[in-house]
Amino acid sequence: MYIRINNFKDIKNIILVSKIVHKILNYISFYIKPGISTGEIDNICYNKIVNYYKAYPASLGYMNYPKSICTSINDVVCHGIPRYNEFLKNGDIINIDISICKNNYYSDASKMYLVGNVNSESINLCRVTKNSIFKSLKYIKPGNKINLIGSSIQNYVEKFGYSVVREYCGHGIGKKLHEDPIILHYKNNYEFTFKKYMIFTIEPMINIGSHRTKVMNDGWTVKTIDKSLSAQYEYTILVTENGYKILK
Ligand code: MF3
Ligand code: CO
Repeated sequence: MYIRINNFKDIKNIILVSKIVHKILNYISFYIKPGISTGEIDNICYNKIVNYYKAYPASLGYMNYPKSICTSINDVVCHGIPRYNEFLKNGDIINIDISICKNNYYSDASKMYLVGNVNSESINLCRVTKNSIFKSLKYIKPGNKINLIGSSIQNYVEKFGYSVVREYCGHGIGKKLHEDPIILHYKNNYEFTFKKYMIFTIEPMINIGSHRTKVMNDGWTVKTIDKSLSAQYEYTILVTENGYKILK
């Protein structure tokens, strides 16, 4: 495993592209209403990324992925493909995952959106998923073991009876969308430590029921095996001299 360390030029560029990702995550929130299709949401993001920010949606064409963003509704864990015949409805929760490339630098982030009036079970899942990341951040500093992240997230969400998806992980990012190291969100024995100026994502997928998942026939869409709800947030994070900085 090779952990790439960023220089100041790299960090400057990755901060720039991270700001674009978060501006689009904010901008799209105004469109998240019952009745809009995920295809339309994708199209709005594509146009903003390409025409306004002069950047490129890194998911588009990634291993032949057909769209610019991932839209994962309710029991979809991740990699939901936007479609013009899939409409948001009152009470849904949806994750929108945006990866962008500009000046050959990458950033990646995602968050949950509530569609109309959402029940408290769904709201709690989203809140705990987001909190699980924030609780884990205190372990990030040069020299600390990376696996403190996974144990922190698993211990926290299991207090609420939730489970951590095992098959998908966070990752180094910067000059490619996915770089070493992998960041597991569950308890693990990886020995690697955080290095100053490394940049990586944390992106736990948390289920109300079983942690097990299955990939649908489209080759991408991942669902929970028991149809329970799943939530995910993702941040791109820089390791600083004595801590971390969320890039947004
Ligand atoms: N954004 C995803 C991640 O968090 C990757 C999406 S690649 C795609 O790593 F092809 F599935 F879109
Ligand atoms: Co990612």
